[in-house]
Amino acid sequence: AYVAGGAGVESTVDANRRALERWRIIPRMLVDVSARDTSIELFGNRLPSPLLLAPIGVQEMAHEEADIAAARAAAEEGIPLIFSNQASKPMEACAQVMGDSPRWFQLYWSKSDELNASLVSRAQACGCSAIVVTLDTTMLGWRIRDLDLAYLPFLRGKGLAQYLTDPVFLASLPEPPEKNMMAAVQQFLTTYSQPSLTWKNLAFLRDHTSLPIVLKGILHPDDGRKTVDYGMDGLIVSNHGGRQVDGAIGAFDALPGVVQAIGGKIPVLFDSGIRGGADVFKAVALGAKAACIGRPYVYGLAVGGQAGVREVVLNMMADFELTMGLAGCISVAEITAETIVRQD
Ligand code: FNR
Repeated sequence: AYVAGGAGVESTVDANRRALERWRIIPRMLVDVSARDTSIELFGNRLPSPLLLAPIGVQEMAHEEADIAAARAAAEEGIPLIFSNQASKPMEACAQVMGDSPRWFQLYWSKSDELNASLVSRAQACGCSAIVVTLDTTMLGWRIRDLDLAYLPFLRGKGLAQYLTDPVFLASLPEPPEKNMMAAVQQFLTTYSQPSLTWKNLAFLRDHTSLPIVLKGILHPDDGRKTVDYGMDGLIVSNHGGRQVDGAIGAFDALPGVVQAIGGKIPVLFDSGIRGGADVFKAVALGAKAACIGRPYVYGLAVGGQAGVREVVLNMMADFELTMGLAGCISVAEITAETIVRQD
């Protein structure tokens, strides 16, 4: 329920799929597609495919190896993993199994700027090459499945690994977590987010890291423009997989407006509803630089741990490559707006 569920009656979860389904690919014929290159360049790094693994918290619910399994699988294929702020394993432990493979860190902006600075500096120290700030979860959405089950993983001390290994967080506790886990949970609950956050706060992050900063959760073109105006380096068009605002715009319906507002100034990434190679193709066609895989890799993790995540990644990559070739494109650059059409 926690993984599959969305906010309210889950109409945004449905809207994400419907928005993608409205657009159809128009394959072109008699193009030599015998050699295909799915690689892209993002923030100066070459990636094998326009794919990343989205930040997903509390992966221990799916598998005991949790983020470590996902990190190993991502590294096997050179696909970046975005470490979640709510991870079940500390970022350093994940980085350690990834070699030189790319990883990013996702921040939930805490009430404690000292903690924010500490998390970001740890991310930099363990080789993360970008910081993702998730903007859409200053409060948790109204999730009926979780409410019915009276289930919130954090109350059970799950998904707190980044905090329980952070010197600033630990110093803020009256007793160490081994002695008093409830105190740690309480401290997390009172500091985890800052609903008063505004655009002006971003300057703090800019002062604390030289890494590219990517804003996750942008849906309105004006927020896209502000992302550029406030000196950010990229954004992710996303509605958190429909988990935050029931009745929100399908993320794919929001993509064209944001892409147009950005005008190519910074990379636009996309998530929320990606289920196969065709979806990745459509996202690229509408101007996304890359797409993030969310729930599908958690299901892979649940079924088969590291091997399960790897299968999901490999299948998504293969499906995308075939779709690209069969549509008549030999490179990601050839996947333009002319390759798809909107059908209402
Ligand atoms: C998420 N997502 C998420 N996002 C984020 O920025 N930090 C996080 O810790 C989490 N945690 C999380 C847990 C679970 C169980 C899910 C399903 C999702 C949102 C995630 O990064 C991504 O935006 C969505 O998963 C994309 O939607 P789909 O493709 O999963 O439908």
